[in-house]
Amino acid sequence: MRINGQHYRTIWLAQDGWRVVVIDQTRLPFRFETVALGSAEQAADAIRNMVVRGAPLIGATAAYGVALAMRVDASDAGLEAALALLGATRPTAVNLRWALERMRRVLASHEPSRRCEAAYREAAAICDEDVALCRAIGEHGLPLIRSLAAGKQAGEPVNILTHCNAGWIATVDWGTALAPVYLAHDAGIPVHVWVDETRPRNQGAGLTAFELGGHGVPHTVIVDNAGGHLMQRGQVDLVIVGTDRTTAQGDVANKIGTYLKALAAHDNGVPFYVALPSPTIDWSIGDGLSGIPIEERAGREVTHAVGLAEDGEVRAVRVVAPGSATANPAFDVTPARLVTALITERGVCAASGEGLAGLFPEIAGGAAA
Ligand code: MRU
Repeated sequence: MRINGQHYRTIWLAQDGWRVVVIDQTRLPFRFETVALGSAEQAADAIRNMVVRGAPLIGATAAYGVALAMRVDASDAGLEAALALLGATRPTAVNLRWALERMRRVLASHEPSRRCEAAYREAAAICDEDVALCRAIGEHGLPLIRSLAAGKQAGEPVNILTHCNAGWIATVDWGTALAPVYLAHDAGIPVHVWVDETRPRNQGAGLTAFELGGHGVPHTVIVDNAGGHLMQRGQVDLVIVGTDRTTAQGDVANKIGTYLKALAAHDNGVPFYVALPSPTIDWSIGDGLSGIPIEERAGREVTHAVGLAEDGEVRAVRVVAPGSATANPAFDVTPARLVTALITERGVCAASGEGLAGLFPEIAGGAAA
């Protein structure tokens, strides 16, 4: 995707050929700054502190984190230590575990002296594949938007509501939930996106709005609680969100607040789609409510909001009365029964074991719980 006319992915190698450059998402949309990661520890910190975020990009960064670790210690013990360090950063996005298991499998088949080179190669492959997966999600989601557009008056936009950020900066490029939106916009289909602000970290207000604006997609930022009201008034044609972990039976974990949007969509007959690349499927879990670990983040994300102060600095300000307790579950689980369909790189399917198995028979057959 483009920023100020220049094409970017979210992760790339520095000029030196070994450090890993990422866009610092804690500074967006106010500052466009990049950070060069030079060690597995720095990669782990970037994931933990959400310098990078979004399930696919977390996986890609972790893969490169392993490559950085292999520069220092490519022994079996060094590999296991790096996998453990990176694997402990964020618990919900299963892409992290998927990427690390893939790195372990590939590197275990190499002598330590060959592991560093192999790790960089594999991390680059994960990134390239993610771009292709996301683009394919866009192509499979596009007809859903096109068919809604067909029922509109000429020039009237399809209104799409999204939560959090599942756009190109949450992936290596294109995004998941936003990939169909970009393709629809590029195809000349009028679209308008309702962007949930997504407290506590405001990924919608800060990141989704930044992306959509950069690509010229009409959008309106709304507070998290506005979606149900808009649906009741017929102002939302469909919802598309991303996911951090989808179970083998189609339950979906995504940013906190997604479940409430699914409930409102269900009550109002608004289609609720979830877009995901297959590395986001956890084939080992059936029931998402009992099986998906939900990350609990620091209370400071609730007590404080980050924004651009009037002096031009990016600052945190307190928004909660001092002394109040906080709770900060970062994700919730939307049961499959509330999901109209899943949009994957292989097509659109029912959010169910049968639906997923139909698209991924070679994996589902062996792994589903
Ligand atoms: O906590 P975050 O910002 O990493 O949460 C991100 C989301 O919830 C996204 O919707 C999800 O990772 C899908 S990204 C394509």
